[in-house]
Formats: sequence, structure tokens, C-alpha cells
Amino acid sequence: MNKISIIGAGRVGETTAQILAQRNLCKEVVLLDVREGAAAGAAMDMRQSAPYHGFDTRVTGGSDPALLKDSGLVIVTAGSPRKPGMSRSDVLEVNRAVIDVIVDEVLEHAPDSLLLLVTNPVDVLTLHAWKRTGWERRRVFGQSGVLDSARMATFMSEATGLSIKDIQTMVIGGHGDTMVPLTRYCTINGVPATTFLDPDTIARINTRTQNGGGEILELRGNSSAYLGPAAAIATMVDAITSNLQRVLPCVCILDGEYGQRQIPIGVPAMLGSRGIERIIELPLNAAERSALQVSIDSVVADLEQL
Ligand code: LAC
Repeated sequence: MNKISIIGAGRVGETTAQILAQRNLCKEVVLLDVREGAAAGAAMDMRQSAPYHGFDTRVTGGSDPALLKDSGLVIVTAGSPRKPGMSRSDVLEVNRAVIDVIVDEVLEHAPDSLLLLVTNPVDVLTLHAWKRTGWERRRVFGQSGVLDSARMATFMSEATGLSIKDIQTMVIGGHGDTMVPLTRYCTINGVPATTFLDPDTIARINTRTQNGGGEILELRGNSSAYLGPAAAIATMVDAITSNLQRVLPCVCILDGEYGQRQIPIGVPAMLGSRGIERIIELPLNAAERSALQVSIDSVVADLEQL
């Protein structure tokens, strides 16, 4: 893939652009923002880090939607972040309007791209954006589970003292307090994570994972997380640009899988250059199924506000 556009030159967008460039994941990164100078200035700053990082990725920035032309992937991070005390759903109304404008620009200037949503509430906005595009569902998806699973892995590493490199975690469901950390599908180099963790510790890890974004927002006060989110986005971009067919939890539009239709929710999917190439249906036990249903219900409640 030659060109990736990132809409929103806030902390998430800017950090993502820097990681994509440093890792040479594409030839060109365009940072777009309605604040033209913010995007152009960030891009210039990044270009001037290239001599030391040694990347040839061309990073540019601006506000003209025509800059989207020929993008293979458009990543949407623009919108209002939540403030401490707010839930992700509290920014739905304002961000839906932002997404409407962006989707129309993408349809006009990058009609053959893939669309990766990051703006919250990400589940609902992924469905909303998908409907507005009229595209095949594999082309429109969201980031949440990669980040949530990274948080879960971090907490497991801290609790066990074991290397983060050996920890595989899986979080499904909506990107909110009801997300479903699937401990039964977590392993430490193939060994079930439950071998290393007692039930109380598992319960604490799960709760902390569900509140992972909120914990950082409370600590920082004036900023949501962005380093973890940007790393999660870059992981998905790598799967797409290198056509890796990785199994990653992504916000997918379900069409029969997990017994749901037209529901946007985080589930493991095979991610490659065509986007969501396959949705993977995990066998869930009764407790996991009912936890997922609670999470779906909360996304549906948000959908009804659209
Ligand atoms: C988080 C926000 C960005 O999880 O959704 O950190």
C-alpha cells in the first residue's frame, strides 16, 4: 500500500503517523485536520525527525479533503474526546456529525479505500460510517480490541512478572465498560493464563481492562490515552499493508456471526489487505455468551440514539 491518510491531527492521529513513518509501513502518510496548521505543522515536525529515525515515508499535512486522493486506507481519529467523568457514549452526537462529513469526503476522494474508525463511540460510529458508505462490510471496521487486549496483557504481565512477549490476550465486545475480557482464551506462551493467576487476580485484571481508558483519562485529566491507541492502530495497519492475515479483535459489522445482524462489535477477525477477510466465531460458554450479550445490548442502546 502506497498511501495512508489519517484524519484528525490530535494526539492519536499524530502519534499514529509517526509510528507508521518510523516503521516504514507505507510510502506516504497524509495527516488531515480541519485545523490546517496543526496538520501541516505536525507533518513538518515529523519530516524533520526522519534524518535520525532514517525513514523515507513522505509525511504531509493539510486540511483539503482532496489530499485523500489515492489513499489505500483512511484512518479516522477526528472528533471530540471525552472528558474525565464522561463515557464514550457521551460524545456520540457531536462525533456522528464529524463522521458524516468525513465519510462524504472519503466517498468523493478515496472511493476505493479501506476505512478504519477510531473515533468514539467506535462501535456505533463504525456501523454508522459503513451504512453511509454503502461499501462491502469488509472495508469498514474499527479499532478497539487490539488496544483493550494490550491493556489486559500488560496487567497480566504485571501480575505474574512474566514477559509481555509471551502473553496473548483476547478482549471482545463493545469498546466500553461492558467489554468482555476472555480469560479462557488467554495464554502465556501456549499455557492457559489461568495456570498463573488466581480467580481474584483475574477478576481484578478484567475490571481494570474494562476501565483501562478511563483510568488513564482520570490520571492525565486533560487527555485520553494515545500511545497505546496509536500502537494498536499501527498493529492493524501492519496486518493490512503487509497482508498478514493476522487474527486480531476488530470492530466488525456482524451479519449472522454470533447470532447477530447489522451489529457492530469487537470480535476476532482475519485482517489483511482486503480488510476484514473473515470473522472468527469463538465457541463461547454460557457465561461468556451472556457477557457478550450485555455488551451488545449496550451498543444497541447507543445505536438507538443515532
Ligand atoms: C481509550 C479511549 C481512547 O480506550 O477509547 O483509551
